[in-house]
Amino acid sequence: MSFAAHRSDFAIAEHPESRARGSIRREDARARSPIAAEASPLLRIKGVTLEYRTPERVVRATHRIDLDIHQGDRFVLLGPSGCGKSTLLKAAAGFIRPVEGEITLDGVPVREPGPDRIVVFQEFDQLPPWKTVAQNVAFPLRAARALGRREAMERARHYIDKVGLTPFAESYPHQLSGGMKQRVAIARALAMQPKVLMMDEPFAALDALTRRRMQEELLSLWDEAPFTLLFVTHSIEEALVVGNRVALLSPHPGRVRAEFNSHAFDLTSIGSHDFQDAVQRLHSRLFEAAPESRASTEVSA
Ligand SMILES: Nc1ncnc2c1ncn2[C@@H]1O[C@H](COP(=O)(O)OP(=O)(O)OP(=O)(O)O)[C@@H](O)[C@H]1O
Ligand SMILES: [Mg+2]
Repeated sequence: MSFAAHRSDFAIAEHPESRARGSIRREDARARSPIAAEASPLLRIKGVTLEYRTPERVVRATHRIDLDIHQGDRFVLLGPSGCGKSTLLKAAAGFIRPVEGEITLDGVPVREPGPDRIVVFQEFDQLPPWKTVAQNVAFPLRAARALGRREAMERARHYIDKVGLTPFAESYPHQLSGGMKQRVAIARALAMQPKVLMMDEPFAALDALTRRRMQEELLSLWDEAPFTLLFVTHSIEEALVVGNRVALLSPHPGRVRAEFNSHAFDLTSIGSHDFQDAVQRLHSRLFEAAPESRASTEVSA
C-alpha cells in the first residue's frame, strides 16, 4: 500500500521505494539537497539485524533494516521508544556489530568507531568538565586528526564561532546552559569534519524555544556547508523540519515501515495546513497496528 498526499512533494511510501518518488518543489538549497538516485550511497545499511545478548536471553533491537544515506542527506530515523533507533546509530558508528547484514561507509564495511563518524548524544554531560570550550573542541582534533596545537585551535575557534559561542570559548562546561553545551558538542563534531555526523535526540532535553532555535541553527550550518547527517528523533515535527529524508521505524524490533521525502518542510512550514496534515498522517502511520509489531522480540539464548 502507498498513499500519496494531495501535495506531491510529501508522499509516504512503503519501503523499499525509489528516492526519486516525491518531487522537489522548494527552490532553495535544502530542496535541492537530495542527490540523484543513481549516485551510490555514502552510508549503506543492508539487511541489518541487531541484537543484545545477555546470559538469559537475546533481545532483537532491529530486524533486517535496509537504508541508503547519500552524501548531503539529512536523514532522520523516526520511531517509537524502544524501536532500536539508538542501537542502529551505534551500529553505524561502529560500536555494535550486526548479527546479520552489513553497514558500509563509502563501500567499506564499518567494523569499529572512527573519526569519520561522530555522534552527538542527548546528554548535556558529554564534555569533559575540566576543559574549556575551546579545549573541548580542539582536543579530538589533536588526538584523532593529528593536527598541531595551533592548527587545532584555529579550527576549533572557527566552529565555535559558527555556533555563536566565541564569547564563551574560555568558559568551562558547568558555566554554560544545556543548549550551549549542545552547541559545543555540535561544534566539536563538525570540527572533526566527519563523513557522517550522527545525532541521537540531541535536542530532546531542551525547552521548546531552545529546541526550535537549535533546529534552526543546525539547518543554517547545513546551508552554509552541507554535511551528511543521520539524526534520531521520536518527534514527528522535528523529523519533518530537520530531515530531507525520513525512515519510519516500526515498534520493537525496529523494521523500516516507510521511507519518505520531507525536504518540502522547514521551520517556516510549522502551523501550515500542509505541515499539520503531514504530521497527522505520520502520527496515524506511527501508531497504527502492524502485524510485525506483534512478532516475538525475544528468543532464548
Ligand atoms: N544494553 C542493552 N542490553 C539489552 N537490551 C538493550 C540494551 N540497549 C537497548 N536494549 C534494548 O534494545 C531495544 C532498542 O533499544 P534502543 O535504545 O535502540 O531504542 P530507541 O529506539 O533508541 O528508544 P528511545 O526512543 O527510548 O531512545 C529495546 O528493547 C531495549 O530494551
Ligand atoms: Mg534512543
